[in-house]
Amino acid sequence: MAATGKTHENWSSRSAFILAAVGSAVGLGNMWRFPAEAGENGGGAFVLFYIFCVLLIGLPVLLSEVLIGRHGQANAPESVRRVARDSNAPEGWSILASMGVFAAFLILSFYCVVGGWVVYYIGVFISDLVQTGLAGGAFEGRAAGDIEGLLPGLFGNGGLMVGLNLGFLAVTMFFVARGVSSGIEWVAVYLMPIFFVLFLGITIYGAFTGNFGEAVAYLFTFDFSKLTGEVMLAAVGQAFFSLSLGVAGMMTYGAYANRDTNLGETSGIIAGADTMVAMLAGLAIFPIVFAAGLSASAGPGLMFQSLPIAFQAMPFGSLIGLAFFVMVFFAALTSSVSLLEAPTAYVFEKFKLARPVATLIVGLGAAALGVLSSLSFNDMAEFYPLSFIPLFAETNFFDTLDGVTAKLFMPIGAILTCIFVGWIADAKLIDDENGLDGVLHQTWRVLVRFVCPIALTIILLAGLFA
Ligand code: PFF
Repeated sequence: MAATGKTHENWSSRSAFILAAVGSAVGLGNMWRFPAEAGENGGGAFVLFYIFCVLLIGLPVLLSEVLIGRHGQANAPESVRRVARDSNAPEGWSILASMGVFAAFLILSFYCVVGGWVVYYIGVFISDLVQTGLAGGAFEGRAAGDIEGLLPGLFGNGGLMVGLNLGFLAVTMFFVARGVSSGIEWVAVYLMPIFFVLFLGITIYGAFTGNFGEAVAYLFTFDFSKLTGEVMLAAVGQAFFSLSLGVAGMMTYGAYANRDTNLGETSGIIAGADTMVAMLAGLAIFPIVFAAGLSASAGPGLMFQSLPIAFQAMPFGSLIGLAFFVMVFFAALTSSVSLLEAPTAYVFEKFKLARPVATLIVGLGAAALGVLSSLSFNDMAEFYPLSFIPLFAETNFFDTLDGVTAKLFMPIGAILTCIFVGWIADAKLIDDENGLDGVLHQTWRVLVRFVCPIALTIILLAGLFA
């Protein structure tokens, strides 16, 4: 069945699509959130359940999302509406993507806050490089506590936090305003390869200089008793966050894919690359953390506080630190671009605005929320917006947005997507789009119809109420 009318540009090639989608998936979620979540949720139990979630839930949902987008060739809610229309199903199903677009907007607002921290550390390492020169470690002569104190120091400076947050958002807006091929694709095609080269270099370096054995044992020893409902929900949430799922991001990118792209194969490449980067990030960060005698459960501070201490002990430490944070910046930018693109595509197609105008409207909204997130580390630290829900009691604005999107919006969006693709949409239409044959096709079908929605519902309920 043919898609009904096309409203926007396409990727220039299949590899551009893959790079952009991998760019969306690989980001702060892999480098910053994954190690933090793994450390806070007990290591091995979390990591292995996470891999299980990627394979059995994330991958089938990813294919479902890009498939809806490719068929619809429009912004996410409109794509769902077109699939529903071509399947003689109620068009109200588009609500699943409208929720996703809203969630992407929420994530964008706090994602750019963390993007701002990355920019800060780039500045820190540049000034260190200028002061201490190339050779020797970073931060020569400074105490570990001093280096760890850089992040709280930043948090205490509300004005700087807001400025960096808005700066990162502005760069994101610049590329999205330029459009699919000359903006979004450009970022992915030029920055992702540089990211991979820097990333591999740093991982190999970390593995050789740090406590690799302890890190492997920590990340891959499965302790069943640690697998609580909360840990499972955290793992599913992380899998979705990392694969950019449940929030219309991949539907939006799928809409720019050409008809001759095999979506099954492409989804496998995206999920494989993303998971590999998350594992390698864990294997880069934890050896260094253990070698320096730091705590694995440092949470969000892990990447920003622990690693710089390790860079102090390394030859060329300032340069390596700088390379590391530049690499994280590239990864974060290719993800924030996709977070902004999902709501922007919706706004400009729906209200028939020029792309830059839509970018500006969405960007200003994200800036307003971002300011609240930035201030939740200082002036508004005691503000707990959802304190009446036990899971979010004593959770500040920033953490509430993070928790609500990863633990509610993403799983609920994914459950609805599975029901829609597995049960509501026309089976022939789905088969024509998915690029799978034989056993793989059957397996995917069973996963989308039964395994994913049932498992996700159980995990969601267990995590919320257990
Ligand atoms: N997957 C990105 C990361 O791991 O950093 C974050 C993200 C991007 C989530 C795009 C959702 C999304 F639509």
